[in-house]
Amino acid sequence: MRKDRDRWESRHNRESPDFDDPDPLLTENRKLLTSGIAVDLASGFGADSLFVAEAGYKVHSLDISFRALSALHGEARQRGLDVSCVVADLDEYALSKAYYDLILVFYFYAKPLMGPIQDCLKRGGLLFYATYNFRHTSVKPEFNPAYLLPPGGLSPFFPKLEIILDEPEAGPDRNVSRFIGRKA
Ligand SMILES: C[S@@+](CC[C@H](N)C(=O)[O-])C[C@H]1O[C@@H](n2cnc3c(N)ncnc32)[C@H](O)[C@@H]1O
Repeated sequence: MRKDRDRWESRHNRESPDFDDPDPLLTENRKLLTSGIAVDLASGFGADSLFVAEAGYKVHSLDISFRALSALHGEARQRGLDVSCVVADLDEYALSKAYYDLILVFYFYAKPLMGPIQDCLKRGGLLFYATYNFRHTSVKPEFNPAYLLPPGGLSPFFPKLEIILDEPEAGPDRNVSRFIGRKA
């Protein structure tokens, strides 16, 4: 959606990238990472993409923002990492089925995408997901509730995955839901 893209583009233009701040869900569970093909959905500047590329994955980073991805592309090149950047609107993008060994989703929630995500993992593949839940409006009242997870966390969206970690209300404000699942 064009409006969405313009909003994120101007936000990323105002921000400076922090490439060295991967999500704690990844750093705390580093031992689960192996190698293969990873996709980082709505990667932004891609600190998580860089982290898993450094761990040994070939990474596809998808985001609607050209600005974020061109910064990530430059950084990955400088570090000699295998990160391919694709400008894509995930509201419309069709992900390949049974293709990925690792899927990352951090702070992005688009309801229509939730069902298909689990079908894109290969057998044994892992999903790492963390995003804000319904409690977040008590921390940030201006946040659009359409982008917040309903009560119950992430596991109900992924019935085909074996649960490795399920934290529906994590963090000091209980406003983050975290999940790691594996395709059996
Ligand atoms: C809150 S940021 C999260 C970025 C990164 N995953 C992280 O945790 O730092 C949300 C990201 O979603 C991207 N985004 C928003 N709508 C999108 C869409 N329809 N398709 C693809 N990316 C989108 C934005 O450009 C932004 O980079």
